[in-house]
Amino acid sequence: MQSFEGKLAVVTGGGSGIGRELVVQLAAAGCAVAACDLNEAGLAETAARAAGGARVTTHVCNVADGEAVERFRDEVMDQHATDHVHLVFSNAGIGGGGSFIAGPRDEWERTFGVCWGGVYNCARAFVPLLIASDEGCLVNTSSVNGFWTTAVPGMPHTAYSSAKFAVKGFSEALLEDFRVNAPHVKVAVVMPGHIGTDIVTNTRRAHGGPEPEDMTAEEVAVIRAALVPRGLPAGASDDEVRQAVRMFADGFRDTAPTSAAQAATIILDGVRAGEWRILVGDDAHALDAAVRADPIAAYLPGTTMMSLVERGGSAG
Ligand SMILES: NC(=O)c1ccc[n+]([C@@H]2O[C@H](COP(=O)([O-])OP(=O)(O)OC[C@H]3O[C@@H](n4cnc5c(N)ncnc54)[C@H](O)[C@@H]3O)[C@@H](O)[C@H]2O)c1
Repeated sequence: MQSFEGKLAVVTGGGSGIGRELVVQLAAAGCAVAACDLNEAGLAETAARAAGGARVTTHVCNVADGEAVERFRDEVMDQHATDHVHLVFSNAGIGGGGSFIAGPRDEWERTFGVCWGGVYNCARAFVPLLIASDEGCLVNTSSVNGFWTTAVPGMPHTAYSSAKFAVKGFSEALLEDFRVNAPHVKVAVVMPGHIGTDIVTNTRRAHGGPEPEDMTAEEVAVIRAALVPRGLPAGASDDEVRQAVRMFADGFRDTAPTSAAQAATIILDGVRAGEWRILVGDDAHALDAAVRADPIAAYLPGTTMMSLVERGGSAG
């Protein structure tokens, strides 16, 4: 797909981060957009930022709920008076569900349900509309955790990584399915490295976690126990723990090597160029090189993302 002008795109998770920037850049390129999110205020902010470009409609929808996604699809068809769409960006995602063994089952299933279930539900609902177009592309967002599971040694990352592996595997399997059954539709899998967004804060909220300043003494104690082995002074006051939680979330956003806007540009350039495997950021390219060069070493105890990025960067 060489141009987005005059096309219609669906973007999930359009109320923040990479999804918001996709909406803004697509609209600026003359592509109408139907954006969904759980966060209505975030969607309104996105629509305001996209003003002046092509038409943007916003839809509150939980992508983990298959019936809600079908309602979203019906709203898109109704509001855009169409029986087809050209682009579907299955971008919505949350973290969490770290330990399968020690963590709460409902958190694990919520994370997996959004990150994998959301992609699956959107494919079920929207692939027929892509097939009804003359030229379509399904763009599924996985992660570097779709080919390497460990974010930080000592911190299991099971639900998110399992879901992102599923997204990658599903997308790669669809390559042949589309070639055989709908060759005018393409599929792409997006694997971002560290991107500067509010995903840490949004994840906490998605799992019902309190704002740091509202954390009770019991909640602070749980966080303190988790953070002391990672460098928080054991004598930190409750307020210092609350501050550390806020600083971690803001730091994730503010110290990333790639911004959300840069990520969206890389994704859209990749789709326009017909790439099916879109790595986002130098860190993602270096990690990919390191894991493919030595997949066994990638899981040796103590291996960090930084050590792999350095290895992959020097190999590449
Ligand atoms: N930020 C990173 O470093 C990074 C790295 C790799 C992959 N990713 C992936 O990129 C995608 C976008 O993440 P981001 O960093 O922009 O995060 P973000 O939190 O800024 O944006 C994600 C949006 O998805 C929405 N959302 C969450 N659950 C939803 C649901 N059930 N239904 C509808 N909308 C929902 C959130 O409200 C939010 O607006 C996610 O799939 C994420 O896993 C991000």
